[in-house]
Amino acid sequence: MQDQTAIKHIISRFAKEGYSVHPGALKALTSVRNVDEVVDKICSSVTSPVIRYEDVIGIIDSGREESFRILKDISGNSRCEGNIDDFVQVFNSRYSKIRNILKTRISGLPVQHVRRMPDGRKVQIVAMISEIRESSSGHRLIEFEDPTGRITGIAIKGSPAFNQCATLVPDEVVGVSGNLTRDGLFIIENIIFPDIPANGRESVRKDVGIVFTSDIHFGSKEFLQDVWDRFVSWLNMEMKKEKLQELAESVKYVLIAGDIVDGVGVYPGQDQDLLIVDVYEQYEKAAEELERLPDRIKIVLSPGNHDAVRQAEPQPALPSEIKSLFSRNVEFVGNPCLLDISGLKIEMYHGRSLDDLMTMLPSVDYSKPHLAMYELLRKRHLAPVYGGRSLLAPEKEDYLVIEDVPHVLHSGHVHTFGYGVYRGVLTINSGTWQSQTSYQKKMNLNPMPGYVAVYNPAKGIARLKFA
Ligand SMILES: [Fe+2]
Repeated sequence: MQDQTAIKHIISRFAKEGYSVHPGALKALTSVRNVDEVVDKICSSVTSPVIRYEDVIGIIDSGREESFRILKDISGNSRCEGNIDDFVQVFNSRYSKIRNILKTRISGLPVQHVRRMPDGRKVQIVAMISEIRESSSGHRLIEFEDPTGRITGIAIKGSPAFNQCATLVPDEVVGVSGNLTRDGLFIIENIIFPDIPANGRESVRKDVGIVFTSDIHFGSKEFLQDVWDRFVSWLNMEMKKEKLQELAESVKYVLIAGDIVDGVGVYPGQDQDLLIVDVYEQYEKAAEELERLPDRIKIVLSPGNHDAVRQAEPQPALPSEIKSLFSRNVEFVGNPCLLDISGLKIEMYHGRSLDDLMTMLPSVDYSKPHLAMYELLRKRHLAPVYGGRSLLAPEKEDYLVIEDVPHVLHSGHVHTFGYGVYRGVLTINSGTWQSQTSYQKKMNLNPMPGYVAVYNPAKGIARLKFA
């Protein structure tokens, strides 16, 4: 049915029953195939004379077939040759993608033009942060760079811009508005972060349970077998409580955001912490353990920094010699990876960059990892800092820009558990199955093992603890 014809048809169907339709609801209904059936269901469930988006979306989603798609993944698409030109390309790609996100909010001038403009002018630029430092009088000095040149901005101590600049990190791209002074200074007035829209994206209410986990670390002496066994029993509906059984039954997906094994040679002296010293045997153990999960569950596995694949991000899926160890049907994806499960868009990212943010930003720490993930959404980049703990591969395109706003951002890596909603996006850091290692003890890191988040778009989120 053509759109205009479909719209008229839907309006007249509702009018016959005495309802009017809000434009948002109308838009959602035009893409539905069995629209008459859906209209009948809506009419029998609503109580208000105006049909709103919230009245229709749940019914539309419940009629959709359950589906799984990989929307974006580096696996099989890497064009990285590792030379200097490629690093230039990846940063140019980052700049142009984020500039594109900012274009409706800021009309940035090329830095080269700004430098030649007369004093007293208000100017706006879109630029990458190349350096952040403090002046002798305590102001913040920020070096901005775009493809045409560099300019130094100053955030005056005590000004609103001074506080905004406290959340900046090197290599992120932002919009900046400010004033040029007679002395040739660029006084920063406002930082415009690319951020995500205030209400995230349209909701999805498909009734499907998804478990979010990560950092299992099979092969480590500190891997908590008994805690993992309880999780497996729960998924196999062996727990006595009816509610837990129902929740387990609803689970159709288990997403694992990296570090399925402990790996070898990841940090100094790691061999002392290993129960299984051969990395292939670690993956054999992983395959055996995943085999214990019920067949109704699809497992999606992306790598982390302990896995046997290149360390620089984006990381492709595990290599075929490791995939072949898994007899069970596992979907191997890269890191990061954008998935679509029945209309729910999920960005999986292991989370190595969180170490950089925890070190650089005073506002975030390991105890509430989801708050650091909010910063990733605000910066629209999964690994904004180059040259810190996160290694970036010189791909021709920057795969780590958050171009498509997801419904869910899922990470791990920091071994602490936390979730929250930022501007409508559910943000989950899924903890670990490993207790504190000697390395973590030295670093004063306190893991939170045995937690999982179970999210069902139709019912909400549940937190389970198996430890
Ligand atoms: Fe880990």
